[in-house]
Order: sequence, then C-alpha cells, then structure tokens
Amino acid sequence: MKEILKRASELSDVVRKAEEVTVVTHIDADGITSGAIAYRCLERAGKEVRIRFVKSLDDEEIERIANESTFVWFTDLGSGQISSIEKSGLNFIVTDHHVPEKVTENQLNPHIFGYDGSYELSGATTTYLLARALGLNYDLSAIAIVGAVGDLQDSNYGRLIGLNSSIVDEAVRNGYVKVVRDLKFFGKQTRPVYKMLEYTFDPYMPGISGSERGAIRFLDSIGVRVKDGERWLRWIDLSEEEKRKAVSEIVRLLMSSNTPFSQIMRMVGDTYILLEEEEGSELRDAMEFSTLLNATARYGEEEVGLLVCLGDRGKAFSRARSLLQNHRRNLSDGLRLVDEIGIEEMQNIQYFHAGRKILDTIVGIVAGMSYSFANRNKPIIAFAENEDGVKVSARATKLLVERGVHLAQAIKIAAEKVGGKGGGHSIAAGATIPKGSEEEFLRILDRVIGEQFCK
Ligand code: C5P
Ligand code: C5P
Ligand code: ZN
Repeated sequence: MKEILKRASELSDVVRKAEEVTVVTHIDADGITSGAIAYRCLERAGKEVRIRFVKSLDDEEIERIANESTFVWFTDLGSGQISSIEKSGLNFIVTDHHVPEKVTENQLNPHIFGYDGSYELSGATTTYLLARALGLNYDLSAIAIVGAVGDLQDSNYGRLIGLNSSIVDEAVRNGYVKVVRDLKFFGKQTRPVYKMLEYTFDPYMPGISGSERGAIRFLDSIGVRVKDGERWLRWIDLSEEEKRKAVSEIVRLLMSSNTPFSQIMRMVGDTYILLEEEEGSELRDAMEFSTLLNATARYGEEEVGLLVCLGDRGKAFSRARSLLQNHRRNLSDGLRLVDEIGIEEMQNIQYFHAGRKILDTIVGIVAGMSYSFANRNKPIIAFAENEDGVKVSARATKLLVERGVHLAQAIKIAAEKVGGKGGGHSIAAGATIPKGSEEEFLRILDRVIGEQFCK
C-alpha cells in the first residue's frame, strides 16, 4: 500500500506544477465521479480546470485532446491507451483501473502495484488517492465510493474490499459515510417497499417479482406495514423488526423455490449511506446515486451528473431524476428483449445480439443483469449496433474469473483479429468491431475463452 500512496504523492507534485489542467474522463458513474473528484481538488488547489467526457479514447480523440490542452489528467481511462497518448506528445498523468497496456511512471493504477482493478480500486477511488495526496480532500471519499459501487466492485463479495475498503474506513472515520448491512435491492431510499420488491428480479421471487398485487399481499401476509395512513412506506421507514422479518421471509420463499444458495447470499451485503445527503433522496445510498449518474452519462448528459456530484440540488438534480426514470425503463425493456430473443449458447460462451434495440451505452449493464436468468457457467457477450459499427459488451462472474477467464485479454485478441479494438477488466470488458464481423469474432472468442479455461 505504501508504494501506491508514494506514487499518488509523486503525481500530486506533478499536478501542483501545472497551471491549467484538462480532466478527461469516461462516461459512466465511475467516470463522472472520477472527473468530479479531479475537478474539485484541482479547483481547491487554485488551478484552471476544464473537463471533457469521452466514450472511448481512440487515436482521433487523443489527437483532438492534444491539440486543445497543455496538461491532461486522464481519469477512469487512459491506461489501456498509454502508447497512443505518448505518441501524441501530450503532457499527462493517469489515474485509472483498467488493465494497463504497459507500466509507466505517470500512472496511478492498482494493477501496477499488485492490486486487482476490478474489485480493489475503481477509477474514482484511484483518483481519490491522488486528490487526498493533493490536500484536504477527505470529503471526496463519499463520491469516490459511489464510483466504486457504480462499477459494481462490491458485487462479488457483497462489500467493497482491498484499498476500496480502506477508503470506506476513512470516509466512515471522517463522518461522511455509514456502512449498513442491508438488502442490496434498488430503491430502499426512494420507493414504496412493495414497488422495490415488485421491480426486483435478481433474485427472482416467485409471486412477488413483477407483481404489484403479489408484493403487497406478501407484505400483508407477513405483517409488514405497506402504508402508514395514506403514505406508502419505503424500506427506510420500516422498523428493524419489520426489515428482519421481511428478509427472513424472502429467504424462506427463495429456499422453497430452489433458488441457488449463492444467489440468496448475494441479496444482502454492505450498503454505503452518504450522511451528508438527505434521507430518502436518490443520493443517500451509493447504489442509487451511481444509477442516477449512469442515467445521465449513458444518454449524453454527463454534465448533469457532474453537476450533481459537484453539489447541484436544483435544476441538474431534477433533470437527473427524470433521466433516471428513463434509464430504469430502458433497462427493464432491455432485459425483456433479451428474454424474448433468447441467449444463444456456444461451447464456452453465450451471446445475444440486440441490433439497435438496446443502446450501445447500456447494453453492458443489461448483459450483466441477464445473469439473473442466464447460464452462470459461461461469459455473456452482447452486441449492439452503433454509428461506428458494433459495440460488444462482455460480462463474467467471479467464479468464471477464478476458473481462468480474463475477458479483457480475450476480447482484445478477438477484436483485433477482426479489425476492432477492445479492453477492460477480467470480469467485464468491451470492444467495437466492424459490422458483419460478429460471427468470426464469436468463433475466435469462443476458442480463446476455451483456452483460458484449460489453463
Ligand atoms: O469502464 P469501467 O471500468 O468503468 O467499467 C467497468 C464495468 O465493469 C462496469 O460497467 C461494471 O458494471 C462492470 N463490472 C461488473 N462486475 C464487477 C466489476 C465491474 O460487471 N465485479
Ligand atoms: O461498455 P461496457 O460497460 O461493456 O464496458 C466494459 C468495460 O470494457 C469497461 O471497463 C470499458 O472501459 C471497457 N471497454 C474498452 N474498450 C471498448 C469498450 C469497453 O476497454 N471499446
Ligand atoms: Zn471504472
């Protein structure tokens, strides 16, 4: 840990010397929070700051950035494109957690220091380490945690681990965050309990998931209040006893419907409560906050998410809330589509092709969510068409990674063989490939993943 903190401190010295900084970041929750952290700490350090969001960092984009900037701080991206950035002649640093193309001294990246960038440190938490080295920026730990949760870094262990958890400890010590062991369902802060249950499909609760009447009947039958007078109760409004009762009855229901034990276990875990945010707001719980951010950035409105991270609770916040409705609807429509068209299985992988029916920016989220009904023994590959060709998103499980699967490596090989480009993490990766090359891409990928299993 000493080594990575030392690098953070060295890079903070580099930043101190710059007058004008362009922050370049990624358009997802981890990217927005990374950008907000960099923006805020630079502003506090008296720098002139500009921020720029990119969907991916190709050579053209790098060229454009190089033409417009003197010093660039890349957050939540850059490590996969180090050579291209170097070639552009830019003066830059990187705080990123993607698998680095090569090791350089101007990168703060967990992989270089022996940590796994898919669980132990995200773009935002990596960026926070530098912000922290720059000065008194402990308050930024809260949105750093939102970024890590936005990248699902807590999903496989039920909590944040590694350096992420040291940052959580720091946030707790400083009074910015509270850790609560609770249900991992979406909407605990913001939705009536019956709605929260109705819209939860992972795990699938027979008779409750997808059924408003079923959800209300279930709560009634176990003596958990649905309403208080005219007011629908949210999860946070229930008493400890009611929550315990609800959880144990859900577990009982899942056990009796033969839901795999591992899936039941994933239902509960650490949740991260932002103490400076209002109770019942979309920003109070890191999971809901990060979904709200994805709802802005993935639809080209990343500025809105950024403003919310920087403290806007007026116009931007209300825009973000309406985008959230839209995002949630798109995700459930997307999942329904996958269920309809079905997931095709190959020997070592499985895939679906959404054409233009799912946005390329959310197809990866949908792919990950599809594991609630797909075969957990094979990686899921998803295709969606966009203006550049075909966007590929791949997701695996922790167990698959433990069995040797490394999606970023496999996707990179397969994408390059068909004239595309890709990268990411062991458990989640993506690429863009030429239209029409999907079949060949799948054939190569299936073989490469097969080889990874054998090793
Ligand atoms: O580009 P970036 O690193 O921010 O994206 C990471 C992606 O990996 C996220 O979309 C996240 O959902 C996915 N992921 C995952 N499971 C994990 C870790 C990350 O699906 N355990
Ligand atoms: O877009 P998606 O959420 O599927 O991306 C999963 C991971 O793959 C992210 O970490 C993303 O940065 C990475 N990726 C990449 N190159 C691409 C597309 C995605 O490195 N062309
Ligand atoms: Zn990230």
